Amino acid sequence: MASRTELSSWQALTQHTQNMRTRKIKDLFSEDQARFDKFSLQLPHFLFDFSKNLITEETKSLLLDLAKETDVAGWRDKMFAGEHLNRTEDRAVMHVALRDKSGAPIMIDGKDMRPVVEGELKRMRALVEQVRSGEWRGYSDKAITDVVSIGIGGSNLGPLMATEALKSYADGRLNVHYVSNVDGAQIADVLDHVDPETTLFVIASKSFTTPETTLNANTARAWFLSNGGSEDTTSRHFIAVSSNVEKAVAFGVGKDNIFEMWDWVGGRFSLWSAIGLPIALQLGFELFDELLQGAFEMDTHFREAPLEANAPVLMALLGVWNGNFLGYRAHALLAYDQCLHRLPAYMQQAEMESNGKSVNWAGEPLAYPSCPLIWGEVGINGQHAFYQLLHQGTDIIPADFIGSINSTQPVPGHHDALMANYFAQTEALMKGISAEEVRADLTAKGVAPERIEELVPHKVHPGNRPTNSLLLNKVEAKSLGALIALYEHKIFVQGIIWDVHSFDQWGVELGKVLAAGIEPELAPDNEVSGKHDASTRHLIEYYKKAKQQ
Ligand code: F6P
Repeated sequence: MASRTELSSWQALTQHTQNMRTRKIKDLFSEDQARFDKFSLQLPHFLFDFSKNLITEETKSLLLDLAKETDVAGWRDKMFAGEHLNRTEDRAVMHVALRDKSGAPIMIDGKDMRPVVEGELKRMRALVEQVRSGEWRGYSDKAITDVVSIGIGGSNLGPLMATEALKSYADGRLNVHYVSNVDGAQIADVLDHVDPETTLFVIASKSFTTPETTLNANTARAWFLSNGGSEDTTSRHFIAVSSNVEKAVAFGVGKDNIFEMWDWVGGRFSLWSAIGLPIALQLGFELFDELLQGAFEMDTHFREAPLEANAPVLMALLGVWNGNFLGYRAHALLAYDQCLHRLPAYMQQAEMESNGKSVNWAGEPLAYPSCPLIWGEVGINGQHAFYQLLHQGTDIIPADFIGSINSTQPVPGHHDALMANYFAQTEALMKGISAEEVRADLTAKGVAPERIEELVPHKVHPGNRPTNSLLLNKVEAKSLGALIALYEHKIFVQGIIWDVHSFDQWGVELGKVLAAGIEPELAPDNEVSGKHDASTRHLIEYYKKAKQQ
């Protein structure tokens, strides 16, 4: 297949970039009073404003040509139809099935999976109701007060992000804690704060072979057994979520306590499955179901809206425009809502584990960059940390600004103060301040002319830095579901355009394999292999020697 760079739309965009490089976004606003209307979309739970990008109607139309030439719509339909788009693992990509509220059959590998998916949701609901109502009892007949979710990557980041985002809706019936790091400091801290008699552990691992999760799960079980628990009462305190039922049983979780997920759900797209149990335990099943409902609304939009008014498609195309044609190699996610403080970490996995690839579907090296570096923070904190670079650094970093009209926890005077910054920052990044404006300002302040000339270059803000603004009505289960699904589909579309396999993650394997070999070498009596490079060998030896002193 021809490289993407050979497509006529790609070449037209390359040509078009030459014209656009000399343009200023702020001038595009002065030239077109209708720019905001043309480049924004009202969606069910939020407004998506992409007018502060360096684009014209011609750019949009050329980008849509690229989407058509790469058959984004066709591939989208194949994903929803359950085709094996995860080619290297030979699996369907059907996280959308987990939130499909249409009632239609969900065909995967020739079988209608709707009854299976709904059956598992039913089991989740029953467990959540039992635990939250106090009917589920621990070994000493006390009700559960704490849930400890043990998992990493996709089996942690989604539930953690969502429980943080929605915690203002929790009734406080259960405290949910997360353990992901293999660093014992994390599990030790959590175990210090819970009581074995009233704690339910959820071991979340799609593969049930992830070493970090296995080690943490074993530590949790040992702690339980040495603090009053027994093998006979383990089933009251340990449940598992996995597609590897055999391994979960081997670990010691009874079959009735295992919630199934399937190989057609990628780890980083799995919060909609029973991996989302901690969310449902904290918030109640109804709110978890609303999260699914919100995602389903976005799925419907993605399937049905024409490409030119399709938010995930447009967001993906803007990312391609900024990254591949304008050459901006990083993208920031800036949340102006404290409850979304884990969103950047979640999206880092979703985007970079999916599209951080350098060969195409045919296995040939890409002739263009794929996923940019995704990073971010709570916006207002970032302003006092790294926004200096966003405004005046040598790199241009496009950003998504995510804010809400209504706070989940209104405190008089705070929300408008926060949102004033949300609005100000995208305006400042776009408009900048010219040398003339700096001069006029300093002159008006009575600064001496020689001093003014000294200061001008330092105070100039070049501007022309692209941003998207997502303005939610409020962070609620439905809007959060829709927001996450928006990004999931953006990732899908970008994977198609970049011609990369978005649904495998071979790049995380090598380090895992090497770590497994190194761990035994760290034991005092074991040799450090001569096969290591000199740096790694010396580091290991230094560590071992220092540890023994
Ligand atoms: O980091 C690699 C990875 O395989 C992720 O894709 C996944 O989300 C994570 O590890 C956890 O995997 P599991 O759910 O199988 O424990």
